[in-house]
Amino acid sequence: MENIRIFCPATIANVSCGFDVLGLCLENVGDEMTIAKTEAPGITIKEIIGANLPLAPEKNVAGVAALALLEHLQPDRGFEISIDKRIKAGSGIGSSAASAAGALFAINYLLGSPLSPKELVPFAMQGEKLASGSAHADNVAPALLGGFTLIRSYEPLDIIKIDAPEELYASVIHPQIELRTMDARSILKNNIPLKKAIVQCGNLAGLISGLYTKDYGLIGRSLHDELVEPVRYILIPKFNDIKAAAMQAGALGGGISGSGPSVFALSRGKETAQKAAQAMAAVLDGTGIPYELHVSPINPTGIKIL
Ligand code: HSE
Repeated sequence: MENIRIFCPATIANVSCGFDVLGLCLENVGDEMTIAKTEAPGITIKEIIGANLPLAPEKNVAGVAALALLEHLQPDRGFEISIDKRIKAGSGIGSSAASAAGALFAINYLLGSPLSPKELVPFAMQGEKLASGSAHADNVAPALLGGFTLIRSYEPLDIIKIDAPEELYASVIHPQIELRTMDARSILKNNIPLKKAIVQCGNLAGLISGLYTKDYGLIGRSLHDELVEPVRYILIPKFNDIKAAAMQAGALGGGISGSGPSVFALSRGKETAQKAAQAMAAVLDGTGIPYELHVSPINPTGIKIL
């Protein structure tokens, strides 16, 4: 096979109580990429539609991730990448992760899949490092693996995939302001009080347990962030009202998607997720802040070949 076209899904990192360690994959929001083999070695980024991003591979998240993979695999061919960007940069739903993960998935596939999706994660993290200054895996891992992914450890990397309960849906509202992950990380505190750490551990354990046991009530009770949301929410217009509206519409819980400005809610069933999305949208209607709205099941497998 000489080329491949793929769908690269958007993702929700943190999922409230799992800062940098938990993420989930969306089904119907994402970019498309075409990757073709070239005679000349190395990486070329041919075009990026829908975003003004650098074409030089060493300055582009997909390029950096791809170069790291080529360095590791040493193939005798090169690759040409075209990206149709539909996830806006700085949206909080894993725009850079989709590009990095997509490039790796496609190149690995065109080379006969020498690496597993999990083995691609460290290369994708190189892209995140370029984009945000931090090599977090909570967007790239769910993009590559699907479902929910827990990063149990970064050193050494230990990633666990957790299948989502079938009736779980995500609602996402993206207020159209750009919030750079780097900036949203720079305001975080380096130290946390023990009391808050205890609450966070309880909720993260509760959420994981709720996912395994399909206990929607437990999932909802656990969607609470003691550490990051109380610091970051000021960066997002009407955050508290948006979250409250989703809850009133019947969502199980919600919070900031990744580093924002997108806000997410999880619901049991598509109908409730749609109601939650409409309620979130109603908060921004009339404020003059444009937004995009998504309702999506959890994507069980991640990147798809088109
Ligand atoms: N865990 C990262 C953060 C995700 O919250 O900064 C960024 O999308």
